[in-house]
Amino acid sequence: MRVVAVLGGELSEEGRWLDSELDGAIGHILKETRFKGEIGTTLYIPLPRLQVLLVGLGRRRGHRLSDVRRLGVKVAEEVVERGVREVAVENFLAARFGKRDASRVLAEGLYLGAYRFSRYQNEGKSPRARFVIAQGYGPVVEEAGVVAEGVYLARDLVNEPPNVLTPEELAWRAERLATEVGLEVRVLGPEGIQNLGMGAYWAVAKGSANEPRFIELVYRPEEEAIRRLALVGKGLTFDTGGYSLKPTDSMKTMKADMAGAAAVLGAMRVIAQLKPPVEVRAYIAAAENMISGRAYRVDDVLRALNGKTIEVLNTDAEGRLTLADALAYASLAEPDAIVELSTLTGSCVVALGREMAGLFAADEALGREVQRAAETTGEKVWPMPMEESYRRKLKSKIADIANVGDRAGGAIQAALFLSEFADAPFVHLDIAGPGFAVKPEDHAYGPAGGTGFGVRTLVEWVMRQG
Ligand code: BES
Ligand code: ZN
Ligand code: ZN
Repeated sequence: MRVVAVLGGELSEEGRWLDSELDGAIGHILKETRFKGEIGTTLYIPLPRLQVLLVGLGRRRGHRLSDVRRLGVKVAEEVVERGVREVAVENFLAARFGKRDASRVLAEGLYLGAYRFSRYQNEGKSPRARFVIAQGYGPVVEEAGVVAEGVYLARDLVNEPPNVLTPEELAWRAERLATEVGLEVRVLGPEGIQNLGMGAYWAVAKGSANEPRFIELVYRPEEEAIRRLALVGKGLTFDTGGYSLKPTDSMKTMKADMAGAAAVLGAMRVIAQLKPPVEVRAYIAAAENMISGRAYRVDDVLRALNGKTIEVLNTDAEGRLTLADALAYASLAEPDAIVELSTLTGSCVVALGREMAGLFAADEALGREVQRAAETTGEKVWPMPMEESYRRKLKSKIADIANVGDRAGGAIQAALFLSEFADAPFVHLDIAGPGFAVKPEDHAYGPAGGTGFGVRTLVEWVMRQG
């Protein structure tokens, strides 16, 4: 398939070349169909010798680079739908943004949009399309491919059903990743977790027959590291709510409660290949929040790794308990920054909807760094307040802190809770909304299901260091 642009209602230069090769067939159809080429619209032309896809770029002016990414996604969707194998795409708006930048974001869009998860479907599998960008800049297209592989990994992990992707399976996949791309890996089981004193994490984990796994990955640069960073991801492979049980409808999609962990693993895959001059450690406290005779209860008092005691008032606020210990553990290595991603609260989805993450910065400068990185990637994050006075809501009568406050401002209270356990400059991203797309229209860069949200922001942030 050949893909060419319609800009300002006219065929692009590349389109005109193709049209003359095809004896004016495209121009003819363009007139006949009155295709105006509004931005993001497409016209599929199956000619006898060649399939052609016209892509509307809208008016001649006023484009942003991110429009090119969206156009790439659009092209990929058409390609997948039609089962096309080989695609040559014009480097849209290269004259406006330069070959290099235009082809980088176009490639991102093409790869992100072409993703499908069909592992458990016997029919309807089609082989992956191969994209070539005409006049593209090779190295950045290749880099976009590496980044997309990381996003694909994260999406696959989220999309796997929870009976397959248990904490143990997640750890195996982390180990496989480590061998594949050359990362150090350490995995702890129930004994290791209890011996270290991760009492909050263990309380959540112990109710399940599927054992927890604490996963640590380390990327070390060849030269001396100019900065040492920590990534932490929430890794609940399933969240029933525990004894504060979720109703069925809310429990649907709770296999995606490890989207933070998936993003961190996806990012580590990319980082290991792009080799930035910083040290990056990743931490995942993987567990399943279930009900049993061994499960934790409301009213329990737990002791976290940093010595703080926690009163459990709701077993469905389990993510912050597992993260409390993961953050305390990450802090022991004295990193220069901790960025943590979690599908933490329904409250954040109410506040920002399904397409944006809430960004909670305990450290303002770090918050700005992460926000800028997100802006470049097109992943939407919005700054939220860490309102200090709300800490009072987490007061406990029996312990140092309670695991929930009240409903109003729930996402903020959750962020404040986490900040009690991070002993380093800290940013929390609540990805409960954008981590998983229930409907395809909730997701700008691919199909419904796991989105891989956060992978590109983390990679961009890490690659900007130094
Ligand atoms: N995993 C959920 C949060 C969630 C909700 C993620 C919707 C994705 C979509 C989390 O563990 C949870 O249940 N949070 C509770 C907290 C409450 C008990 C304070 C919530 O948001 O209702
Ligand atoms: Zn929960
Ligand atoms: Zn949860």
